[in-house]
Amino acid sequence: MDAAALAQQALAEISSARTPEELERIRLDYLGRSSGRISAVVERIGSLPAAERPAAGKAANEAKRAVEAALAARAEEVERLRLADLAETDAIDVTFPAPPLAAGHLHPLTQVQRELEDILAGIGFSVEVGPEVETDWYNFEALNLPKGHAARDVQDSFFLNAGEDLVLRTHTSPVQIRAMERLKTPPIYVIVPGRVYRRDASDPSHLSTFMQLEGLAIDEGLAVSDLKGTLTYMCQSFFGPERQIRMRPHNFSYTEPSYEFDCSCGICGGKGCRTCGGDGWIEIGGCGMVHPQVLRNGGIDPEGYSGYAWGFGIERMTLLRYNVSDIRAFYENDLRFLEQF
Ligand code: DAH
Repeated sequence: MDAAALAQQALAEISSARTPEELERIRLDYLGRSSGRISAVVERIGSLPAAERPAAGKAANEAKRAVEAALAARAEEVERLRLADLAETDAIDVTFPAPPLAAGHLHPLTQVQRELEDILAGIGFSVEVGPEVETDWYNFEALNLPKGHAARDVQDSFFLNAGEDLVLRTHTSPVQIRAMERLKTPPIYVIVPGRVYRRDASDPSHLSTFMQLEGLAIDEGLAVSDLKGTLTYMCQSFFGPERQIRMRPHNFSYTEPSYEFDCSCGICGGKGCRTCGGDGWIEIGGCGMVHPQVLRNGGIDPEGYSGYAWGFGIERMTLLRYNVSDIRAFYENDLRFLEQF
């Protein structure tokens, strides 16, 4: 077979090749250096009579170039077909629902804080804030806690200067005074969520920084029954309508009378169980009727108005709501914990 005929044959094979491997096999078959059939024709040219060599050489070269060109063209075509095929089988379905975005959410303490704010806003309390760095006057003195008062030790403090007149607030109660000064005339119904600081060693129920929620109501003729009604509404809204409130006499310098308040245990319904230590009640916080001197310190006449106040830890409310046993879990920021809320 001469070069042209071989080329014809090669072109036919090339046009039906479907893979790069097939094309390579065809290339070797016709153009391979040692075994190629067109290569063999080229080799034989040297042994032809001199007169025939130029024409034979030209024909062989043309045949070679035609096959090379056809191989290149078909290689492109094969690749194009491969991609089209891929598009068909691995096609992206644009109507397929996207995987959900990994969105974050509010920290459980923030959720509880906001829920409590909502609950109390519902009965007319508005949110008041104050500074975390307080003066001795607001944090202690104005709340009837003069220097040397035993109750100052209970709230072992972080002082910011040697003179000890600047302190990281040990409770949100100083904002009671600030709220009276700002709002001036009752009725005053405010709540104060915020961070507080104490020189406490950390353990499952203590931290050196935590959140409190303070409440203050000042109006004409407010009585202990109003305080109890508000606490009951708050706890029933937060924990459930079956919960009861119990107030036990206590002592705070800024209230008179003073109480600690408990909520009936949600596990045993008040009968007594392990969660409530057999008592049926779980301690929540402190409260009382605002001391007349505290009203005066805030610029309000105790002859015309009376008030009640309360305060508690937001972490504790959150522990009780979700049955978490260690307060420190809220500050470790372990996503395995936080993602459960
Ligand atoms: N300030 C108190 C504390 O940090 C809580 C408290 C008790 C707040 C009685 C009050 C109150 O407003 O009347 O433990």
